[in-house]
Amino acid sequence: MAAARDLRATETADIGDVDAVELAKRHLIQPWPFAGSVGAEARALIGEGDGIYITDSTGKRLIDGPAGMWCVNVGHRREELAKVMYDQAMALSYNTPWYTMNAPSAELAKRIAGHAPGDLSHVFYTTGGSSAVETALRFMQFYNNVRGRPEKKLILSRGGAYHGSTYLSASLNGRPRDRDWMDGADELVIKLSSPDPFRRPHGMSFAAFTDFLVDQFRDTVARVGADKIGAFVGEPVQASGGVIVPPDGYLKRIREICRDNDILYVSDEVVTAFGRLGHVFASGDVFGIDPDMITFAKGVTSGYFPLGGVIISERLLEELRRSNHPDAMFGHGLTYTSHPVGCAVALKNLDLLEEGVLAHTQDVAPYFQAQLKTLEELPLVGEVRGLGLMGCVECVADRESKDPLQLDKDVGKRIDAHCHELGLLVRPLINMCVMSPPLIITREQIDDMVGILREGISRTMDDLRKEGVWRG
Ligand SMILES: Cc1ncc(COP(=O)(O)O)c(C=O)c1O
Repeated sequence: MAAARDLRATETADIGDVDAVELAKRHLIQPWPFAGSVGAEARALIGEGDGIYITDSTGKRLIDGPAGMWCVNVGHRREELAKVMYDQAMALSYNTPWYTMNAPSAELAKRIAGHAPGDLSHVFYTTGGSSAVETALRFMQFYNNVRGRPEKKLILSRGGAYHGSTYLSASLNGRPRDRDWMDGADELVIKLSSPDPFRRPHGMSFAAFTDFLVDQFRDTVARVGADKIGAFVGEPVQASGGVIVPPDGYLKRIREICRDNDILYVSDEVVTAFGRLGHVFASGDVFGIDPDMITFAKGVTSGYFPLGGVIISERLLEELRRSNHPDAMFGHGLTYTSHPVGCAVALKNLDLLEEGVLAHTQDVAPYFQAQLKTLEELPLVGEVRGLGLMGCVECVADRESKDPLQLDKDVGKRIDAHCHELGLLVRPLINMCVMSPPLIITREQIDDMVGILREGISRTMDDLRKEGVWRG
């Protein structure tokens, strides 16, 4: 441990903080940039992480509210994970998956299948979530081609969805702004309503809203034709769309319609898998559904290595093996498919989850939700919602109309700026703040986190009042 700390100190001295900021502005393109600052932007420079905390270049220690990007599930600076990566790299740093294989990827596939619902039995590894969704969709296309149904390729997705940044996965995205300036394979995708109970039509009950969503799904299948629709892709809880927890029973009913119409149900668990909702997978254990495919990434390695994958149903694979086209090739594979270092660290990460982190998450999640919920006392807050260790504070200009737009759209960023001052990193999303801390967070740390968030929102309310933008 001491040796690791010394090494970090040397590296920091070599690349000074100021230099890193300047270099970034000159040479680095950040993700999701605006045209006006693309390639000329520096973001908060983070030097260290430890447990639920990260430290910025000024030495300020912050609670890592979003756990990186929903991924640092077992926390920062886990020596067990670092050691496994070192040992695996020294034993075998890489092997071509085209002609060879390695043991960690096979062992991990077995353990993942053991946690997956239904007959999900086999894993195809990717480099992250977008490539996992892309793989699931390309597999659906291949499957239908081999089965002699080349017309059955359309994909159902929903408003509020986020499924990635590759061409096809991004075409499924349904969040506001994401696609304003971006192209997509729109001819392949049909968008349905977000299952967002907060935004259900005024006066509509939860049950009626669920019926509306299910009817819309069924009617769309009937109108377009089941023979044209290959897959439905949905997050169990829409994460980047603002932690949208669907109404009770909705996912099960959608699953049934998919089964009845031979539409493959792809459950995008890139965020919800590997502990975020207290289980390795949420589809079966939380929502009682058995999808045809589950996509995962992020928490599979707690963000220590870029790895993702798709778990595929035994039934689908068996149908392919028995088809009349034994020579048809699934022309899809990535250089880093089944990466030995990624799979080795994922195995150790899974040990940590099974040996206590999942149980801890189940224990603290109700407290996390209850404490966050107290923020609804603040007049700027329209709703606090969440599940497991995912939470979202949605701000509105006016609780009756639930209008987020009369406010400066960057209210989330304003709250984040105040919280940064106070020692908390927040994930701002237009008028929302998303919280998904490392799963090892304690009750006391939850109190700290919510206390800072409360103060950050209060300061934002003061600012908005002073600017005359809001009169709450
Ligand atoms: C549900 C979901 N699917 C897919 C992705 C894309 O994953 P990645 O950024 O690893 O490509 C994300 C990323 O946040 C996600 O939240």
